[in-house]
Amino acid sequence: MSQRIPKDLIDDIHQRVNIVDIIGKYVHLKKQGANYFGLCPFQAEKTPSLSVNEHKKIFHCFSCGRGGNVFNFIMMIDNLSFVDAVAKVAEFGGIPFDSYRYQNHSVKTVNVAVQKVLTFSQAFYHHVLEHTEIGDVALNYLKQRDILPKTMETFQLGYAPDNNLLTESLQAASDLSPDAIKESNVITSTETKTYDYFKDRVMIPINDENGDLVGFGGRSLHFNLANEPKYLNSKQSKIFNKGNLLYNLNRAKSEIVQSHEAVLLEGYFDVISAWQAGLKNTVASMGTSFTAKQLRLLNKFTNRLILVYDGDAPGKAAIDKAIDNLSKQKNLEVLVAPIPGGLDPDEYIKKYGGDSFKKLVQKERISKYRFRLDYYQENIDLKNEQDLLNFVRRILSKFSDLKNDSLQREVYLKELSQITGISLINLQNQFNQQVAKENHINQRLIKNDLAPVKKQIDNRFERAQRELLFLAFNNDLFSWLDEEYHWTFPNSDYEVIFELFKQYYEDNQGQVRFYEFLNILPSDLVSLATSINELDRPTTTDKKEVAGLITVIKKEELNNKIKKMQDKVNLYQKLGQKSQLDESVKQLIKLIRIKQQEVS
Ligand code: CTP
Ligand code: MN
Repeated sequence: MSQRIPKDLIDDIHQRVNIVDIIGKYVHLKKQGANYFGLCPFQAEKTPSLSVNEHKKIFHCFSCGRGGNVFNFIMMIDNLSFVDAVAKVAEFGGIPFDSYRYQNHSVKTVNVAVQKVLTFSQAFYHHVLEHTEIGDVALNYLKQRDILPKTMETFQLGYAPDNNLLTESLQAASDLSPDAIKESNVITSTETKTYDYFKDRVMIPINDENGDLVGFGGRSLHFNLANEPKYLNSKQSKIFNKGNLLYNLNRAKSEIVQSHEAVLLEGYFDVISAWQAGLKNTVASMGTSFTAKQLRLLNKFTNRLILVYDGDAPGKAAIDKAIDNLSKQKNLEVLVAPIPGGLDPDEYIKKYGGDSFKKLVQKERISKYRFRLDYYQENIDLKNEQDLLNFVRRILSKFSDLKNDSLQREVYLKELSQITGISLINLQNQFNQQVAKENHINQRLIKNDLAPVKKQIDNRFERAQRELLFLAFNNDLFSWLDEEYHWTFPNSDYEVIFELFKQYYEDNQGQVRFYEFLNILPSDLVSLATSINELDRPTTTDKKEVAGLITVIKKEELNNKIKKMQDKVNLYQKLGQKSQLDESVKQLIKLIRIKQQEVS
């Protein structure tokens, strides 16, 4: 059995290696004042924005916003898991580390209590779908989409009615804790009341790779209504994080291992229909672009991936982008099975049948090079000189990983020569020049699939929250914030960081080391937390100043709520939905009253 790396061992490594030495192996660093500076390896730049603080044991880039401790740096730059990054740092420091013991330790993010609430909700939705009259509308919808009862079982599909019955049922269940109910995000609250988060939607449970239920996707039955998203997913939280998940991986992983390949689709129903058609090694990216975490997840089970995205223009553009992202993972072969007629897999199966789809995936797959030769020719005229030159340059710039494969290189360069009428010799020369140029650039800019840095919105509301979090990092404010304000951050990222910091603070009796705290954060929040900790502002202990920030946050939050409610009122007015309109007007008046009270 593998186990979690002991805290003492991690601490020992932190103490014995110097972050400046380690980052110095990748980036040329120069001392300037208290910090070391260098060119940030995560973006192309000419003036150094990467700073490394030897004493605080963290790095931070002022330009791209990435930051963290020494392990985070290695995870980012070498696309490694936490355990592998610790092993690498230990090796740099000559510290014995038996990574094998810790290798497969998967960290459970969902605690048992929350798991219970999610499972309860899943059973509730499923029951409503199958055994109640209210669920008939969804059952008919699924039938009309050709989903068989057996498939509904396998995927535990459900229906969320629009009557707040889940909220009532959860609150009535004696064995579910109120905190866990809140954390599960299946319900949501306003100032005045609590209600179901998902309403009138077909519910698709989402599990992590181990099969633990982590959230839901909800498909609207009539999403053509204005303002209604087609899919509503569980709120992003430390439990449900789209970037760490691939839909259906828990069911598909054994098939993936056996078939030596994974089929990557975009949507929930694409996966469900493909499964029903007998193609079971499929997972869905849920409409997002690839993260390093998802890549590692897949690469654990296979090194061949077939992309089967929607056949329309956005789908093809998404394939093009995915090929770029996936090329950053070593040992991953990427193939494409294009769908004709602008259809998505689910629509194709409905129109031509499951067998035809299986055949398309298994027999009509092409290499990523072939895909681009076809795709980049769309909507251009090769008889036009400019189009022709742009086409050749664009293709060559995307073909550079052919440098290690002489066979494929010859095949595709020959093909390019035929398409364009440019001689093979000439193309080969261009290709070599291009590769030489890239090698030069690569020495400085280490290409990798990096999780995007969370965008920091720069308005008063967000800024005040960041400052408050900064002060919480640097002062003992927790009990005061709790007692005075029952404090929670409106921004869920800040809230997750705050809660985890509080936990860390308590676990360590107030002995905090920020670089150590970073080890317990989900990796997509590390850069954000670091940049907040690096804010250039005094670490005041003046409670009045803190209270001032809280006033700003609360005021702005209330304004946002009023604005949203106003939008709702306008919408229902337009749609002529009397009862909803009345309810929203009531809510709006309540919010405005609260605001008036606070002003006076
Ligand atoms: N998606 C999402 N939220 C949205 C839109 C899309 O999470 N507001 C994700 C879902 O996982 C969805 C996938 O992106 O399945 C692909 O989106 P899209 O192609 O728009 O939907 P379809 O899967 O074709 O949906 P359907 O077949 O139900 O019409
Ligand atoms: Mn679809």
